[in-house]
Amino acid sequence: MDFNFQNPTRIIFGWGALGNLRQAADSFGPGRILLVTGKTAMRKSGVIGKIIAELGPERVAVFDQVEPNPSAATVDRGVEVCRKEKCGLIIGLGGGSPLDAAKAMAVLVSNPGRVLEYLEGKSLKHPGLPLIAIPTTSGSGSEVTPYSILTVPEKRLKFSLRNPILYPRVAIIDPLLTVGLPPRQTAATGLDVLAHALESLWSKNHQPLAALFAERAIELIFQHLVRAYRTGDDPAARTGMSEASMLGGLAISQTGTTAIHPASYPLTFDFGFEHGLACAIFIPSFLRINRPAIGERLARLLRILNLENLESLEGKIQTLMRELEAPICLRQIGVKEEDLYRLAERGFGKSSALNPVDLRREDLEKILKEIY
Ligand SMILES: [Fe+2]
Repeated sequence: MDFNFQNPTRIIFGWGALGNLRQAADSFGPGRILLVTGKTAMRKSGVIGKIIAELGPERVAVFDQVEPNPSAATVDRGVEVCRKEKCGLIIGLGGGSPLDAAKAMAVLVSNPGRVLEYLEGKSLKHPGLPLIAIPTTSGSGSEVTPYSILTVPEKRLKFSLRNPILYPRVAIIDPLLTVGLPPRQTAATGLDVLAHALESLWSKNHQPLAALFAERAIELIFQHLVRAYRTGDDPAARTGMSEASMLGGLAISQTGTTAIHPASYPLTFDFGFEHGLACAIFIPSFLRINRPAIGERLARLLRILNLENLESLEGKIQTLMRELEAPICLRQIGVKEEDLYRLAERGFGKSSALNPVDLRREDLEKILKEIY
């Protein structure tokens, strides 16, 4: 089998790993730093204050305006601040949203124009500012991927930048930072990892190294997610989920996601349904649909998980979702039957073509009816 594997992000992982930030930042020189983060969570937890004190207040400009599912406009504003403050390094701190926004800002600083032009196809030519990514959830894996997913509200859609220059230079993955994450977000982000790992495994772009990461991520999710959900301060559970998230990110950094991610976006956009939960609701149906195209890979996964057949894997996933109190049908989140046609129509994106089984609008509509 032929494949390429490259992931240039340096990973510093461990309980308390945030203590390495100063040294990592200094390795890029003494210049000013833009700290990109969300509106409240990290300020409340005191992490922002700690980081500023550690790096020196005179050195740090803060952009804390990143909303969930960040918009292209937010990225453009951050780029302006970065230029005005003459920053030479960006630190992204938070869940997938601040990290994705920070990644886009880092490359837009050195590529002229607005981010929307690049989301619509203009190519990114110049390497961006160095970026240190510090995840505070265990889900997106954005700290080790070359993607930035952004929302364009006028078009009612999510778009992505995909380019190796988006890889963070350093990922500091400190499970301690996920301890305060509320149960619902722990569940949602953890299920996002499950979607990443499964989609990477069954992607048309699948490859053996990414598969190793994906398989291990799935094992860790079954071992640790329910515990992290119920007992948020359990170090083993939080560390296990941070590891799973990183491995899921490493897997999709090579293969991308497939049809579940674009199918989930309209649910997040129109119904405010959290990203990971919106992905997870599709998993059982896609497992069944994709089964004929992934025989050997599925058999290997079943062996690793000590399961007999697809039905037992499906059962295990359903039990997990029940234990996490994750919605399992669309009615639970306010979708009406007359919405399904439109959701199917809008549920396709670049990565849909990587699904192992080709899907048409009618097929997605059938799935949506099944989970309605
Ligand atoms: Fe995701």
